[in-house]
Amino acid sequence: MRLLLLGGTAHLGSTVATRALARGHQVTCLARGSAGPPEGVTFVRGDRDDPDGLSAVRDEEWDVVVDVTRQPGQVRRAVSELRTRHWVFVSTANVYAAASAPGYDEDTPLLEPLEGEAMTSMEEYGPAKVACERAVTDGARAGGGTATLVRAGLIGGPGDDSARVGYWPWRLAHPSGPDVIVPDDLDFPVAFIDVRDIAAWVVHAAEQRLDGAFNVTGPPTTLGTVLEESARVAGATVPLRPVPVAELTRLGVRPWMGPRSLPLWIDDPALRHFAVMGTGRARAAGLHTRPLAETLADTLAYEEARESPRPVGLTDAEEQEIRAALG
Ligand SMILES: NC(=O)c1ccc[n+]([C@@H]2O[C@H](COP(=O)([O-])OP(=O)(O)OC[C@H]3O[C@@H](n4cnc5c(N)ncnc54)[C@H](OP(=O)(O)O)[C@@H]3O)[C@@H](O)[C@H]2O)c1
Repeated sequence: MRLLLLGGTAHLGSTVATRALARGHQVTCLARGSAGPPEGVTFVRGDRDDPDGLSAVRDEEWDVVVDVTRQPGQVRRAVSELRTRHWVFVSTANVYAAASAPGYDEDTPLLEPLEGEAMTSMEEYGPAKVACERAVTDGARAGGGTATLVRAGLIGGPGDDSARVGYWPWRLAHPSGPDVIVPDDLDFPVAFIDVRDIAAWVVHAAEQRLDGAFNVTGPPTTLGTVLEESARVAGATVPLRPVPVAELTRLGVRPWMGPRSLPLWIDDPALRHFAVMGTGRARAAGLHTRPLAETLADTLAYEEARESPRPVGLTDAEEQEIRAALG
């Protein structure tokens, strides 16, 4: 296949490019070039915010275009200018209006689409992706083509600089004291997918020209199981110290992400089942996910080698300060 990847230089995009090359496809990536593309792709520099940003790729006939953007205006321009038989748009679980029950499927109501061309804050991320999905689907239909909407859950695995998954095996491998501070909500429902698995499925969806929306994440588990498996792959013997959520809040510890946080957990009943989407449709269409322990072990190896600071979790000093405050 001749595959055009709009993006392809960041975590998921570059893994999709690598996978597509390994499957024998010809891959062209278009991006501004903030980071280098994977070896073996044809790289085209272009800024999609520029009205002529797609000029280098719009005269060609593509078998598939894969897009990872979050900006509806960029999608509208791409579907109006590019010629392809199939689109794959990487969307998100954030498109859903509510994650009311575990295993929620693709027919769950969506948020209202963002009006306008570009999102300006992360609060607009879900509505922006809804608008992107619509633009891709409408554009594909108008051109007589097909479109896969990949509603991705949290993406982890090697190369994930967000460290939302990697924090836990890393922290267990490198305790800052006699225990590891964790939320006492160990039954919190967790699911995430290894970047290599979602990339493989994106390429599969492109090859099969799968039409429609698909929830794509790993099997449902719990925070407690992730911590247990993380301790195992890290060879950790240090005990967990489950801290009540009210105490964490009092001590300024945030859920999910950001500085002074504990990831993979959300202190909001409305988002309790957010991660654990139903993936029956994607699994029936070939989604395969590797064992949790393999992702955690490979993510730990990535964390051990990383040089940039981790943007999530507690630093040693923060964990020590919290431990001291708890007494
Ligand atoms: N990470 C998660 O847990 C998660 C969860 C659910 C869904 N998702 C979705 O998964 C996808 C992740 O994609 P990703 O890892 O490849 O990261 P990304 O940060 O979304 O990648 C953006 C890509 O687009 C390019 N780009 C950005 N602005 C551009 C512009 N104006 N013109 C041309 N190219 C531009 C970037 O390269 P340059 O900067 O070089 O231009 C980069 O290659 C996204 O769709 C995200 O919404 C992620």
